[in-house]
Amino acid sequence: MTNNKTPFRIAIAGLGTVGAGVVKVLQDNHDVIKNRCGRDIEIISVTASNKTKDRGVDISNYEWVDNLSSMAEDNRVDAVVEMIGGSEGDAKTLVEVALKNGKHVVTANKALLAHHGFVLSQLAESYGVSIAYEASVAGGIPVIKALREGLAANEITNIYGILNGTCNYILTEMRETERNFDAVLKDAQEMGYAEADPSFDVDGVDAAHKLVLLGALAFGVQPDFESLEIEGISNLTMKDINYAEELGYRIKLIGMAQCDDGVFTQVVSPCFVSKKNAISQVEGVFNAIMVEGDFVDKVMIQGRGAGAGPTASSVVADIIDLARGERVSTFGVPTEKLKAIEWRGVETLNAKCYIHLHVKDVSGVIADITACLKDKDVSIDSFIQRGHEEDGTASVAIVTHKASLVKVNNAVRVVEELATVLNKPTLVRIEDI
Ligand code: HSE
Repeated sequence: MTNNKTPFRIAIAGLGTVGAGVVKVLQDNHDVIKNRCGRDIEIISVTASNKTKDRGVDISNYEWVDNLSSMAEDNRVDAVVEMIGGSEGDAKTLVEVALKNGKHVVTANKALLAHHGFVLSQLAESYGVSIAYEASVAGGIPVIKALREGLAANEITNIYGILNGTCNYILTEMRETERNFDAVLKDAQEMGYAEADPSFDVDGVDAAHKLVLLGALAFGVQPDFESLEIEGISNLTMKDINYAEELGYRIKLIGMAQCDDGVFTQVVSPCFVSKKNAISQVEGVFNAIMVEGDFVDKVMIQGRGAGAGPTASSVVADIIDLARGERVSTFGVPTEKLKAIEWRGVETLNAKCYIHLHVKDVSGVIADITACLKDKDVSIDSFIQRGHEEDGTASVAIVTHKASLVKVNNAVRVVEELATVLNKPTLVRIEDI
């Protein structure tokens, strides 16, 4: 360990939930952090959009900078902590200027890295500095460190998990309290879990940003956001949540990256996960990631995936690593070694599926639906029908046997056209994990 009398000097841009949390961790745990680093970590300067806002932390001892470039060019600064967010604009410019000025960058910005990680990592390499981004994936869980260091001896075959705390919180709360989607989302926003634009959470984009980074690290490929298939949770209803429960599953928004003979599938989508699987027991704002490696077998890590404290804990862990002099390539291997991704769509996989239909309760409706499935070679495993006498409709939940997702999708498209089917069918993959 370094025993360096010179402090490690940082500048923090962005003092929202996480940025203010970073200041608080550095202040509250100053002594323990100093002992672990062998040197002081000193905040030189800070900036945010509003200077006078009360953030619950004292920033009066730090220089306030109005100009992001001057922060990134400051000769006294060793690392710039980018807490602004967003894949473009100020955050991107700040990171580029900081790297070009020989500063390390610590960031929680998964959108920035998912879209520009490859180029930024080349830039960092050419200026001999690091990009540290533990906080960008799964809040307080040290999964980047686990993949880049602890599991580095393994060929990874599969990585999957719950990567968005807001969605997991919403799905858990809806099931446990039977409150509707909007009310529960509002709670998540008030607790500081949700993104500035919560559609990033509920549409699966935030989880996809994180999955791109995990996939790059796990498989040594260039981060490629375009190679992902993404579906969110906003079309799910209480009916789906209750049927899942009745059939022995929980609904989780799962991000999954797998590699089969050098070809990748990367997908974020709601999945039915057996209640017996450890992932389905991960509830609320908690995230969990399962990694399968050829020597280590399965490793699962879980913890709080969002919120000021857990996310700031990861940001400060990165600052500590840099202050100790630890340097690792952004995606675990030199940028020139990262392979361009060759991928195939999720439709090429086989899986059991759940289908929910709202139908007219008339004779022959079930025969018509099952005929469509038979016609596309999709076999039924279980079937639940609930009639609603008051309005003459019925709700139908079908679980298929394992089948090609192409065939199931084709069958559902035909079912949707039946005059007796009143809704756009809900189709959810049952993930055999
Ligand atoms: N909005 C994110 C989540 C925060 O809910 O998981 C951490 O990225």
